[in-house]
Amino acid sequence: MIQFGKIYTENCIETFRRMPDDLIDMTLTSPPYDDLRDYNGYHFPVEEIAAGLYAKTKPGGVVIWVVGDRTHNGSETLSSFSHAFAFRDAGFKVHDTMIYAKNNPIPSDCGKRYRQCFEYMFCFSKGQPKTFNPLTEPTKSAGQKIKAFRITGAGRGNVPDEDIGREIKTERKLSNIFSYNVGTSSAKDKIAFEHPAIFPEQLAEDQIRTWTNEGDVVYDCFMGSGTTAKAANLLGRRWFGSEISKEYVRIAKERLRQYLRGDEKAAGA
Ligand SMILES: C[S@@+](CC[C@H](N)C(=O)[O-])C[C@H]1O[C@@H](n2cnc3c(N)ncnc32)[C@H](O)[C@@H]1O
Repeated sequence: MIQFGKIYTENCIETFRRMPDDLIDMTLTSPPYDDLRDYNGYHFPVEEIAAGLYAKTKPGGVVIWVVGDRTHNGSETLSSFSHAFAFRDAGFKVHDTMIYAKNNPIPSDCGKRYRQCFEYMFCFSKGQPKTFNPLTEPTKSAGQKIKAFRITGAGRGNVPDEDIGREIKTERKLSNIFSYNVGTSSAKDKIAFEHPAIFPEQLAEDQIRTWTNEGDVVYDCFMGSGTTAKAANLLGRRWFGSEISKEYVRIAKERLRQYLRGDEKAAGA
């Protein structure tokens, strides 16, 4: 059985074996891709992981998979897309391909290319997502009336008749490009930076708020420095994770200590 508030120091494939089916409301993770970094030499089989996550995710649950591509021999690897195909083949719907844009990407010489400044943030869902709490932003034209407009002489633009004359709402859903600072301002805990590839705390918070409710179960199969665990814990979700490297589990535990309740500390997170 699974203990919540715990990071299992093992290959996530082993953790799948401990879980009952249909346990997880949301997995939020970023895989080790393209051997971009040497995570103490570990690799991962994406088809097996996609199949495992499909079995362990509740109907209506989601996997948020944050991944980029490396350039090798003059060509992008497209690992991100091969992962998307693997998840679709495992049974998931590719619900949304969101972008995680980096406000301040690490400077690098990318030759005759623009600066690389984003990763994909796939939302794979088991059926239609059961929870969607969209983040919103204020609209610029709040209170004004929606007008018909013409694109060509042939007809009206893409505003449906029933919407014309309706008042524009004060808030609208965010677009699916999310921008975050990376580097030192992306996490509040200094120890997190002992891990080479953290994702921003705000990214974790935004995604967990969107796809889960309080009390839901959030999992990270590649827990790294514990960013997912921290955000899930602060938002009142139950969580657990897997991380194959003892060293990274040590970092995550030290990072999380100040945020955990007594019973979670006892669970050995
Ligand atoms: C991109 S990092 C995750 C970083 C994390 N999102 C954070 O904010 O700290 C990927 C992690 O997966 C771990 N890992 C690689 N293969 C694994 C496997 N099969 N099972 C569990 N963890 C694995 C690596 O040790 C590494 O810490």
